[in-house]
Amino acid sequence: MPQSPRRPFQAQKGRNFAKNPGKKPPSKDQGWDPVASWYDKLVGETGSDYHRNLILPATLRMLDPKPGESIIDVCCGQGVLVNPLLESKIARFTGIDASPRLIASAKARHGADPRVSLLVADACLPGPWAGGTHDAATCIMAVHDVPDIVALFSNISRALKPGARAVLVFMHPCFRIPRKTHWGWDADQKIQYRRLDAYSTPQEIPITTHPGKATGEQTVFYHRPLATLLTAIGSGGLAVTACEELYSHRRSQSGPFSKAEHRAAEEFPMFIALKAVKPA
Ligand SMILES: C[S@@+](CC[C@H](N)C(=O)[O-])C[C@H]1O[C@@H](n2cnc3c(N)ncnc32)[C@H](O)[C@@H]1O
Repeated sequence: MPQSPRRPFQAQKGRNFAKNPGKKPPSKDQGWDPVASWYDKLVGETGSDYHRNLILPATLRMLDPKPGESIIDVCCGQGVLVNPLLESKIARFTGIDASPRLIASAKARHGADPRVSLLVADACLPGPWAGGTHDAATCIMAVHDVPDIVALFSNISRALKPGARAVLVFMHPCFRIPRKTHWGWDADQKIQYRRLDAYSTPQEIPITTHPGKATGEQTVFYHRPLATLLTAIGSGGLAVTACEELYSHRRSQSGPFSKAEHRAAEEFPMFIALKAVKPA
Protein backbone atom coordinates (compact mmCIF):
# COMPACT_ATOMS: atom_id res chain seq x y z
CA MET A 1 0.00 0.00 0.00
CA PRO A 2 1.39 3.43 -0.82
CA GLN A 3 1.82 5.50 2.32
CA SER A 4 -0.57 8.38 2.71
CA PRO A 5 0.96 11.77 1.95
CA ARG A 6 2.41 13.64 4.89
CA ARG A 7 -0.02 15.88 6.73
CA PRO A 8 0.34 19.57 6.09
CA PHE A 9 2.05 21.45 8.93
CA GLN A 10 -1.12 23.39 9.64
CA ALA A 11 -2.72 20.16 10.84
CA GLN A 12 0.03 19.67 13.42
CA LYS A 13 -0.56 23.16 14.77
CA GLY A 14 -3.90 21.98 16.15
CA ARG A 15 -2.14 20.29 19.08
CA ASN A 16 -2.14 22.34 22.26
CA PHE A 17 1.38 23.14 23.42
CA ALA A 18 0.31 26.03 25.63
CA LYS A 19 0.45 23.80 28.73
CA ASN A 20 4.20 23.34 28.27
CA PRO A 21 5.45 26.84 27.62
CA GLY A 22 9.05 26.89 26.51
CA LYS A 23 8.87 23.32 25.22
CA LYS A 24 9.27 22.91 21.48
CA PRO A 25 6.50 20.83 19.88
CA PRO A 26 7.93 17.49 18.78
CA SER A 27 8.26 17.18 15.01
CA LYS A 28 6.85 14.13 13.25
CA ASP A 29 7.92 15.36 9.85
CA GLN A 30 10.68 13.14 8.49
CA GLY A 31 10.85 14.83 5.11
CA TRP A 32 12.03 12.46 2.39
CA ASP A 33 12.92 9.62 4.75
CA PRO A 34 10.61 7.13 2.96
CA VAL A 35 12.47 7.76 -0.32
CA ALA A 36 15.94 8.32 1.15
CA SER A 37 17.72 5.37 -0.54
CA TRP A 38 16.35 6.26 -3.95
CA TYR A 39 17.25 9.94 -3.53
CA ASP A 40 20.73 9.24 -2.21
CA LYS A 41 21.43 7.06 -5.27
CA LEU A 42 19.98 9.66 -7.65
CA VAL A 43 22.11 12.49 -6.27
CA GLY A 44 25.24 10.45 -5.57
CA GLU A 45 28.57 12.13 -4.80
CA THR A 46 28.30 15.12 -7.12
CA GLY A 47 24.59 15.72 -7.71
CA SER A 48 22.00 14.78 -10.29
CA ASP A 49 22.39 15.93 -13.88
CA TYR A 50 20.29 19.03 -13.07
CA HIS A 51 22.30 19.71 -9.91
CA ARG A 52 25.61 19.59 -11.77
CA ASN A 53 24.57 21.60 -14.80
CA LEU A 54 22.06 24.12 -13.48
CA ILE A 55 21.28 24.10 -9.77
CA LEU A 56 24.73 24.04 -8.16
CA PRO A 57 26.29 26.58 -10.58
CA ALA A 58 23.34 28.98 -10.05
CA THR A 59 23.47 28.52 -6.27
CA LEU A 60 27.20 29.29 -6.12
CA ARG A 61 26.85 32.21 -8.54
CA MET A 62 24.09 33.88 -6.50
CA LEU A 63 25.52 32.97 -3.09
CA ASP A 64 29.09 34.04 -3.89
CA PRO A 65 30.48 32.25 -0.79
CA LYS A 66 33.44 33.92 0.87
CA PRO A 67 36.38 32.34 2.68
CA GLY A 68 35.75 32.11 6.43
CA GLU A 69 31.94 32.29 6.24
CA SER A 70 29.47 30.16 8.16
CA ILE A 71 26.75 28.82 5.84
CA ILE A 72 23.66 26.79 6.68
CA ASP A 73 21.97 24.56 4.11
CA VAL A 74 18.33 24.08 5.10
CA CYS A 75 16.83 20.78 3.83
CA CYS A 76 20.35 19.66 2.92
CA GLY A 77 19.38 16.08 2.00
CA GLN A 78 22.41 13.83 1.66
CA GLY A 79 24.77 16.81 1.48
CA VAL A 80 25.17 17.67 -2.19
CA LEU A 81 26.28 21.24 -1.31
CA VAL A 82 28.96 20.30 1.25
CA ASN A 83 31.88 19.85 -1.15
CA PRO A 84 31.16 22.83 -3.43
CA LEU A 85 30.92 25.13 -0.38
CA LEU A 86 34.00 23.73 1.35
CA GLU A 87 35.90 24.18 -1.92
CA SER A 88 34.98 27.88 -1.64
CA LYS A 89 36.95 27.87 1.64
CA ILE A 90 34.02 28.61 3.93
CA ALA A 91 34.82 28.04 7.61
CA ARG A 92 31.66 26.16 8.65
CA PHE A 93 28.96 24.18 6.88
CA THR A 94 25.79 23.34 8.83
CA GLY A 95 23.21 21.13 7.18
CA ILE A 96 19.77 20.38 8.58
CA ASP A 97 17.17 18.00 7.21
CA ALA A 98 14.07 16.28 8.60
CA SER A 99 15.11 12.88 7.22
CA PRO A 100 17.29 10.88 9.64
CA ARG A 101 18.33 8.56 6.79
CA LEU A 102 19.46 11.39 4.52
CA ILE A 103 21.36 13.00 7.39
CA ALA A 104 22.99 9.60 8.04
CA SER A 105 24.07 9.50 4.36
CA ALA A 106 25.42 13.05 4.63
CA LYS A 107 27.33 12.10 7.79
CA ALA A 108 28.76 8.98 6.13
CA ARG A 109 30.20 11.22 3.39
CA HIS A 110 31.18 14.36 5.31
CA GLY A 111 30.68 13.79 9.05
CA ALA A 112 34.40 13.37 9.78
CA ASP A 113 35.23 16.86 8.54
CA PRO A 114 35.50 19.19 11.58
CA ARG A 115 34.08 22.09 9.55
CA VAL A 116 30.80 20.20 8.95
CA SER A 117 27.77 19.85 11.31
CA LEU A 118 24.77 17.83 10.22
CA LEU A 119 21.53 17.75 12.21
CA VAL A 120 18.12 16.14 11.97
CA ALA A 121 15.63 18.99 12.35
CA ASP A 122 12.28 20.09 10.97
CA ALA A 123 12.83 23.30 9.02
CA CYS A 124 9.26 24.36 9.82
CA LEU A 125 9.94 24.43 13.55
CA PRO A 126 12.25 26.85 15.30
CA GLY A 127 15.26 25.26 16.97
CA PRO A 128 18.81 25.96 18.12
CA TRP A 129 19.95 25.71 14.48
CA ALA A 130 18.04 28.93 13.78
CA GLY A 131 20.02 31.05 16.20
CA GLY A 132 21.08 34.03 14.08
CA THR A 133 24.71 32.99 13.66
CA HIS A 134 25.12 32.33 9.93
CA ASP A 135 26.49 34.59 7.19
CA ALA A 136 24.37 32.93 4.52
CA ALA A 137 21.78 30.20 3.97
CA THR A 138 20.79 27.98 1.08
CA CYS A 139 17.65 25.95 0.49
CA ILE A 140 17.76 24.06 -2.77
CA MET A 141 15.09 21.90 -4.35
CA ALA A 142 13.07 21.78 -1.14
CA VAL A 143 10.70 24.78 -1.01
CA HIS A 144 8.04 22.61 -2.72
CA ASP A 145 8.67 19.74 -0.30
CA VAL A 146 7.85 21.45 2.98
CA PRO A 147 4.29 21.87 4.20
CA ASP A 148 4.58 25.36 5.75
CA ILE A 149 6.62 27.85 3.75
CA VAL A 150 6.06 30.87 5.99
CA ALA A 151 7.56 28.82 8.86
CA LEU A 152 10.39 27.67 6.56
CA PHE A 153 11.35 31.20 5.48
CA SER A 154 10.94 32.58 9.03
CA ASN A 155 13.35 29.95 10.34
CA ILE A 156 15.84 30.57 7.53
CA SER A 157 15.68 34.25 8.44
CA ARG A 158 16.14 33.41 12.16
CA ALA A 159 19.24 31.36 11.29
CA LEU A 160 20.89 34.39 9.64
CA LYS A 161 22.80 37.34 11.05
CA PRO A 162 21.21 40.74 10.20
CA GLY A 163 22.20 41.71 6.66
CA ALA A 164 23.00 38.10 5.71
CA ARG A 165 21.75 36.48 2.51
CA ALA A 166 19.85 33.38 1.43
CA VAL A 167 19.67 31.58 -1.90
CA LEU A 168 16.55 29.57 -2.69
CA VAL A 169 16.39 27.36 -5.79
CA PHE A 170 13.27 25.38 -6.65
CA MET A 171 11.14 24.06 -9.49
CA HIS A 172 9.67 26.94 -11.46
CA PRO A 173 6.11 27.23 -10.15
CA CYS A 174 4.80 28.63 -13.44
CA PHE A 175 6.24 26.04 -15.82
CA ARG A 176 7.07 22.89 -13.90
CA ILE A 177 4.30 21.41 -11.79
CA PRO A 178 4.20 17.59 -11.52
CA ARG A 179 1.23 16.13 -13.41
CA LYS A 180 0.01 19.63 -14.40
CA THR A 181 2.60 20.67 -16.99
CA HIS A 182 3.50 18.75 -20.14
CA TRP A 183 5.22 19.19 -23.46
CA GLY A 184 3.02 19.09 -26.56
CA TRP A 185 3.59 19.17 -30.31
CA ASP A 186 1.66 21.50 -32.64
CA ALA A 187 2.05 19.82 -36.03
CA ASP A 188 0.55 22.77 -37.99
CA GLN A 189 2.89 25.38 -36.57
CA LYS A 190 5.73 22.92 -35.94
CA ILE A 191 6.27 24.15 -32.42
CA GLN A 192 6.80 22.34 -29.18
CA TYR A 193 4.57 24.03 -26.63
CA ARG A 194 4.26 23.89 -22.87
CA ARG A 195 0.84 22.90 -21.66
CA LEU A 196 -0.28 24.11 -18.21
CA ASP A 197 -3.38 22.41 -16.82
CA ALA A 198 -3.57 24.25 -13.49
CA TYR A 199 -1.62 26.97 -11.70
CA SER A 200 -3.44 29.24 -9.27
CA THR A 201 -4.79 26.59 -6.90
CA PRO A 202 -2.29 25.42 -4.27
CA GLN A 203 -1.98 21.65 -4.51
CA GLU A 204 -0.51 18.70 -2.66
CA ILE A 205 0.60 16.31 -5.39
CA PRO A 206 1.69 12.81 -4.32
CA ILE A 207 4.92 11.71 -6.01
CA THR A 208 5.63 8.00 -6.35
CA THR A 209 9.31 7.29 -6.87
CA HIS A 210 8.86 3.90 -8.57
CA PRO A 211 5.53 4.05 -10.43
CA GLY A 212 4.12 0.59 -11.06
CA LYS A 213 6.41 -1.15 -8.55
CA ALA A 214 4.17 -0.79 -5.46
CA THR A 215 7.17 -0.02 -3.23
CA GLY A 216 5.08 2.38 -1.15
CA GLU A 217 7.77 5.03 -1.59
CA GLN A 218 5.98 8.31 -1.89
CA THR A 219 6.44 11.95 -1.07
CA VAL A 220 4.39 15.09 -1.60
CA PHE A 221 5.01 18.07 -3.88
CA TYR A 222 3.40 21.27 -2.57
CA HIS A 223 2.58 23.50 -5.52
CA ARG A 224 2.00 27.18 -4.72
CA PRO A 225 1.60 30.02 -7.21
CA LEU A 226 4.40 32.56 -7.47
CA ALA A 227 2.55 35.30 -5.57
CA THR A 228 2.07 32.96 -2.59
CA LEU A 229 5.76 32.02 -2.63
CA LEU A 230 7.05 35.59 -2.87
CA THR A 231 4.64 36.84 -0.22
CA ALA A 232 5.70 33.99 2.11
CA ILE A 233 9.36 34.95 1.68
CA GLY A 234 8.49 38.51 2.74
CA SER A 235 6.30 37.29 5.62
CA GLY A 236 9.25 35.20 6.76
CA GLY A 237 11.38 38.33 7.05
CA LEU A 238 13.48 38.11 3.88
CA ALA A 239 13.62 40.62 1.00
CA VAL A 240 14.19 39.28 -2.51
CA THR A 241 17.02 41.12 -4.28
CA ALA A 242 17.70 38.97 -7.36
CA CYS A 243 16.08 36.29 -9.49
CA GLU A 244 17.38 33.94 -12.17
CA GLU A 245 15.29 31.55 -14.23
CA LEU A 246 17.17 28.40 -15.16
CA TYR A 247 16.69 26.77 -18.55
CA SER A 248 17.37 23.12 -19.22
CA HIS A 249 20.78 22.30 -20.63
CA ARG A 250 19.43 19.03 -22.05
CA ARG A 251 19.27 18.74 -25.83
CA SER A 252 17.81 15.95 -27.94
CA GLN A 253 19.68 14.18 -30.71
CA SER A 254 19.33 15.78 -34.12
CA GLY A 255 16.10 14.78 -35.86
CA PRO A 256 12.85 16.21 -37.22
CA PHE A 257 11.80 17.77 -33.88
CA SER A 258 15.16 18.87 -32.53
CA LYS A 259 14.98 22.50 -33.67
CA ALA A 260 11.58 22.94 -32.05
CA GLU A 261 12.75 21.11 -28.91
CA HIS A 262 15.78 23.37 -28.58
CA ARG A 263 13.65 26.46 -28.99
CA ALA A 264 11.22 25.25 -26.33
CA ALA A 265 14.09 24.45 -23.93
CA GLU A 266 15.29 28.03 -24.34
CA GLU A 267 11.81 29.51 -23.85
CA PHE A 268 10.52 27.74 -20.74
CA PRO A 269 12.58 27.80 -17.52
CA MET A 270 12.67 24.64 -15.40
CA PHE A 271 13.88 26.18 -12.11
CA ILE A 272 13.84 29.54 -10.38
CA ALA A 273 16.67 30.85 -8.20
CA LEU A 274 16.13 33.72 -5.78
CA LYS A 275 18.55 35.68 -3.67
CA ALA A 276 17.05 37.27 -0.55
CA VAL A 277 18.51 39.25 2.33
CA LYS A 278 17.60 39.59 5.96
CA PRO A 279 17.38 43.34 6.53
CA ALA A 280 20.18 44.65 8.77
C1 LIG B 1 14.41 17.16 -3.19
S1 LIG B 1 15.21 16.96 -1.65
C2 LIG B 1 16.54 18.18 -1.82
C3 LIG B 1 17.69 17.86 -0.92
C4 LIG B 1 18.96 18.69 -1.20
N1 LIG B 1 18.78 20.10 -0.93
C5 LIG B 1 19.39 18.49 -2.62
O1 LIG B 1 19.31 19.42 -3.44
O2 LIG B 1 19.81 17.36 -2.93
C6 LIG B 1 14.13 17.76 -0.51
C7 LIG B 1 14.64 17.68 0.92
O3 LIG B 1 13.80 18.41 1.81
C8 LIG B 1 13.76 17.70 3.02
N2 LIG B 1 12.58 18.14 3.79
C9 LIG B 1 11.28 18.03 3.45
N3 LIG B 1 10.51 18.54 4.43
C10 LIG B 1 11.35 19.00 5.39
C11 LIG B 1 11.16 19.66 6.62
N4 LIG B 1 9.95 19.95 7.08
N5 LIG B 1 12.25 19.99 7.34
C12 LIG B 1 13.50 19.70 6.89
N6 LIG B 1 13.74 19.08 5.74
C13 LIG B 1 12.67 18.73 4.99
C14 LIG B 1 13.69 16.26 2.59
O4 LIG B 1 13.99 15.35 3.61
C15 LIG B 1 14.69 16.25 1.45
O5 LIG B 1 15.98 15.98 1.91
